[in-house]
Amino acid sequence: MRRAIALAEKAINPSPNPRVGAVILKNGKIVGEGWHEYAGGPHAEIVALKKAGSRAQGGELFVTLEPCNRFGRTPPCSQAILNSGIKRVVIGVLDPTASGGGAKFLKKHGVEVVSRILEPACRELNKIWLKNMEHKRPFVTLKMALDAKGSTIPATSKKWISSSKSRREVMKLRRSFDAIAIGVGTITADNPRLTVRGIKTDRQPVRIIFDPNLRSPVMSKIFHDGGETILISRQEFPNYNLRKILQKLFQRGICSILLEGGETTAKKFLQAKLVDEIFIFQKGNRRKQKNWHGISMKNIGEFGDDGLFYAVP
Ligand SMILES: NC(=O)c1ccc[n+]([C@@H]2O[C@H](COP(=O)([O-])OP(=O)(O)OC[C@H]3O[C@@H](n4cnc5c(N)ncnc54)[C@H](OP(=O)(O)O)[C@@H]3O)[C@@H](O)[C@H]2O)c1
Ligand SMILES: [Zn+2]
Repeated sequence: MRRAIALAEKAINPSPNPRVGAVILKNGKIVGEGWHEYAGGPHAEIVALKKAGSRAQGGELFVTLEPCNRFGRTPPCSQAILNSGIKRVVIGVLDPTASGGGAKFLKKHGVEVVSRILEPACRELNKIWLKNMEHKRPFVTLKMALDAKGSTIPATSKKWISSSKSRREVMKLRRSFDAIAIGVGTITADNPRLTVRGIKTDRQPVRIIFDPNLRSPVMSKIFHDGGETILISRQEFPNYNLRKILQKLFQRGICSILLEGGETTAKKFLQAKLVDEIFIFQKGNRRKQKNWHGISMKNIGEFGDDGLFYAVP
C-alpha cells in the first residue's frame, strides 16, 4: 500500500478527481502498477491491470481508494477487476460518493476484500478530494510569510520577506492548487502576478481576489497577462458570507485554494473556520514549535534562512 500511495502522489493535481495509486502483486512480486494522472484519464486500477495482463489472474490488488462501481467518464473499475481474475483486493479508504460500491460489488462476486488499510495516510493523500466530497467546498490552505519579528508586512526596501529557497517552495505549492487567493489590500500594496514561475507546470492557477468594493486598480498585473482572475465583490455576494462564496467557487470547478494573505483576509478565513491547514515561512526561526494567532505550529522544514511551520487549526 505504501508503494500505491507513492504512485498516487505522482499526480500533482488531478482535480476534480482523487489521487489514486494501484499495485498488483502475484506470488509476492509486482506485476503491474499505475496511478490516476488527470481527470478523464484512465483510473489507476486500469493502468495497473493493463500492465499486468494475464499475470493479474489469481493476484492481489492494492489500491489507495475503493474502486469505482459506476460509469463515469470511464467504465467501472470493479467489473474490470472481477474480469481480470484478481482474487484479493486491499483498499486504503472507502469512497464516500455515489461512485463507490466497488468493495461490495467485488465481495458479492467472490473476491476477498480488505478495507481501510493505512487509512490515515490514504485520507491525507486525498485530503482535498475528501473535503470536496464531504463539504461541497474547496480545500483551503493558508500560506503566510513572516519576518523575524512575526510581521507579515515587508520592509519597504525589500520586495520579499522570504528566502529564495522558500519562494521556490511556494511555487511548488502554487502548482498543486486550482486557485491562489488574496485580499485586495495585497493587490494595491504589491501588485503581484500570482503565477507559477521558475518550475515546470501544466497550468496556471486561477487568481481569486477578495475585493468587496471593487477597488483593484485596473492596471494591476493580474488583469493583463491573459490568465484567469475572479473578483469576489459585494455586487455578487451582498453579505460576503465566506462559506457561501467557497461553495459557489466549488460549483465553478475550483477544488483547492492557496490563500496567500494578507493578514486581514487570513483572519477572516480563520474566524469563519474555513482554513484546513496552515503553512508559515518565518525568517530566522528554526525552533521546533511556534505560536501564531493562538495556533500551535510545528516546524517541518528549513529553506535557506527560513523555518517552515505547519498546523491543522
Ligand atoms: N507576508 C505575507 O505572507 C503577506 C501576504 C500577503 C500580503 N502581505 C502584505 O500584507 C499587506 C496587505 O495586507 P492587508 O491585511 O492590509 O490586506 P489584504 O488581506 O490583502 O486585503 C484586505 C482587504 O480585502 C478585503 N477583504 C478580504 N477578505 C474580506 C472579507 N472576508 N470580508 C470583507 N472584506 C474582505 C477588504 O477590502 P476593503 O478594504 O475594500 O473592504 C480588506 O480591507 C501588504 O503590505 C502586503 O505586502 C504579506
Ligand atoms: Zn475507477
